[in-house]
Amino acid sequence: ATGKTISERLLHWYDAHARDLPWRARPGKEAPAPYRVWMSEVMLQQTTVAAVKPYFEKFTATWPTVEALAAADEAEVMGAWAGLGYYSRARNLVKCAREVAARGGFPDTEAELRQLPGLGDYTAAAVAAIAFGRRAVVVDANVERVVARLFAIEEPLPGGRKAIRTHAEAITPDERAGDFAQAMMDLGATICTARDPKCLLCPLAEECEGRKRGDPARLPVKAPK
Ligand code: ADE
Repeated sequence: ATGKTISERLLHWYDAHARDLPWRARPGKEAPAPYRVWMSEVMLQQTTVAAVKPYFEKFTATWPTVEALAAADEAEVMGAWAGLGYYSRARNLVKCAREVAARGGFPDTEAELRQLPGLGDYTAAAVAAIAFGRRAVVVDANVERVVARLFAIEEPLPGGRKAIRTHAEAITPDERAGDFAQAMMDLGATICTARDPKCLLCPLAEECEGRKRGDPARLPVKAPK
């Protein structure tokens, strides 16, 4: 391959192929409001993109700002959440909105975001990168799969997660970390899929060690239960 880095290649691909999702800004454009990023990432934690879309539209139409959600009746929010599952997320959503409204807005660092109700390592990193342009290492199941293949990480999960994180860290760019994270997710969701990786369409095929070794679909290896 030529001298382009992995993140350069991936961002170039993302500029042309990003999925058009209601919580996103267009690549390279102004970041969406932290409220919308937070809401979408909480909803997407245990739920598919297709299932989240109508709920995200309904929630942001009913409560367009974190202040509006903070003022909402909890029972009404729980009712609107019905069908999405994992209801502790909805309770934390209201709790978090009230805390954020009381402090005058979302904090803009990963460490402070991590302190809010319902925000784990993943969500805090995702909001810091996507809403605030912070360099944060965002690793969900899609990113895990892409990285395990790219670097042919043979160590089975969960142990292999440490190496995956180290490699994800190493390829995360200083600029556009939010687009980079979402590009990794899109690549995992549409091309580097669990069962049927479409290496012929992959912008990272030339640097992919998993593909070079053959049968990338076997990665990541999972420890027997
Ligand atoms: N899954 C979780 N967060 C996502 C995002 N921002 N874009 C696409 N898929 C996601």
